[in-house]
Amino acid sequence: MNVEELKKAVAREALSFVEDDMVVGLGTGSTTSYFIRLLGKKVMEEELEVYGVPTSHQSRILAIESGIPIASLDEVDAIDIAVDGADEVDPDLNLIKGRGAALTMEKIIEYRAGTFLVLVDEGKLVERLGQKMPVPIEVIPAAWRAIAEELEVFNATAELRFAAKKDGPVVTDNGNFILDARFERIDDPLDMEIELNTIPGVVENGIFADIADVVLVGTPEGVKRLE
Ligand code: 5RP
Repeated sequence: MNVEELKKAVAREALSFVEDDMVVGLGTGSTTSYFIRLLGKKVMEEELEVYGVPTSHQSRILAIESGIPIASLDEVDAIDIAVDGADEVDPDLNLIKGRGAALTMEKIIEYRAGTFLVLVDEGKLVERLGQKMPVPIEVIPAAWRAIAEELEVFNATAELRFAAKKDGPVVTDNGNFILDARFERIDDPLDMEIELNTIPGVVENGIFADIADVVLVGTPEGVKRLE
């Protein structure tokens, strides 16, 4: 099974968490895109009353195309479940997220959700956060260089994220830049998450400590559930 098949398998499994009358936070990224398309089918076939609350322009457009009625965060009383991918998952279910640059809205919506369901393939499991992936940090554009320098205090080296063709920095849905920070070691993810957000000009960072409720992991042997 290739990685795309593992992603599809977890996305299919995630459908069983969605029931009629639910408000569903819709994450961003390739794994979540499979989920959104499948959810659209389920909503239409089973005539469900489900609203999606998108975490990005990307997931908003995909939800509309998939036939999922959408609402914004300020239009709903509560979010029953949020479903999203991740870039790394440690044994305590702490996450790194933000390869899709949507981390700020993702964190706001996933923090509010009754259940936060994470969908990954087994390649995303790590012993320690930061092992493979940098931590994305959304920053106010004018502050990017000052914050990159400030991150040296944390023994991190940070790079401004550029768009694929290198024709300019990635700009988030909120009009900000992304720094990708590589740390020597992240011993305490929750502490690091809080500390990073105290740097002036940091909008949010991609450490999601202690907020995932269930992680579905795609493996060649089937979908495993961690909680
Ligand atoms: C976007 C994210 C994504 O959920 C994360 O990068 C995983 O993406 P993919 O499912 O494409 O591997 O955090 O900001």
